Amino acid sequence: MVIPQHVAIILDGNGRWAKSKGMPRNYGHVKGAQNLEVICEDAWKMGIKYLTVYLFSTENWKRSKDEVDALMRLFRQYTKTCIRTARDNNMKVRVLGDPSALAQDLQDSLRNLTESSKENTGLNFQIAINYGSRDEIVRAVRRLSQDCADGKLEPAQITEELFSGYLDTAQIPDPDLLIRTSGELRLSNYLMWQLAYTEFYFTEVPWPAFTKEDLWKAIEKYNSRERRYGGVKTESQ
Ligand code: IPE
Ligand code: IPE
Ligand code: MG
Repeated sequence: MVIPQHVAIILDGNGRWAKSKGMPRNYGHVKGAQNLEVICEDAWKMGIKYLTVYLFSTENWKRSKDEVDALMRLFRQYTKTCIRTARDNNMKVRVLGDPSALAQDLQDSLRNLTESSKENTGLNFQIAINYGSRDEIVRAVRRLSQDCADGKLEPAQITEELFSGYLDTAQIPDPDLLIRTSGELRLSNYLMWQLAYTEFYFTEVPWPAFTKEDLWKAIEKYNSRERRYGGVKTESQ
């Protein structure tokens, strides 16, 4: 079995899962966050080197204030737990997205998380929070244009590789496998540049109920596909 080097997940369906149990949406988010801890360890044990998860999109601010507030409280808690988990499990955590819209204490916690784990050599764990692919590309273009305006770069020097280096995922290989839970068949503004040749796997299972057996199923399916253009890339490529 070939284990994909980089798996990206759109962890969806927390709300519907909770509703199916007669519980409020936030219960689904709490259980979803707990499940993320479990799947992170499972992924590393299976041999996955990079795991990138979508926690909050640039569009998710449009949800009700109550839900956004509850999610932010949960992220605060999750970030603190993650600092410990990263230390115990040797995980290197990176944040994708624009943290500037988050509360200052959450930004500080996230910086602490990435700084304290940056020398770790285990699972490379990326959390996308206030992330949107279009926003990421626009932020990259802004910095790139500034470098051109400052005379550091000529437009003719811009290549795909150079542009990739301006994205939040600079230095991270493209995902080999994308998983979206809970039945929706769309990208919801996730990693649009990076997923150009990624294999997609959709499952009806909602995120809080997603287990390592479900992850295996996705990897088995991935193995049955014939990949085009490159397959697994190394970090240096
Ligand atoms: C995914 O679950 C978690 C976040 C987007 C924060 P949802 O909250 O989207 O749950 P559903 O899709 O409404 O069931
Ligand atoms: C995508 O899920 C964002 C995250 C998982 C964080 P959504 O549930 O927000 O996506 P849409 O709104 O159904 O496209
Ligand atoms: Mg959803």
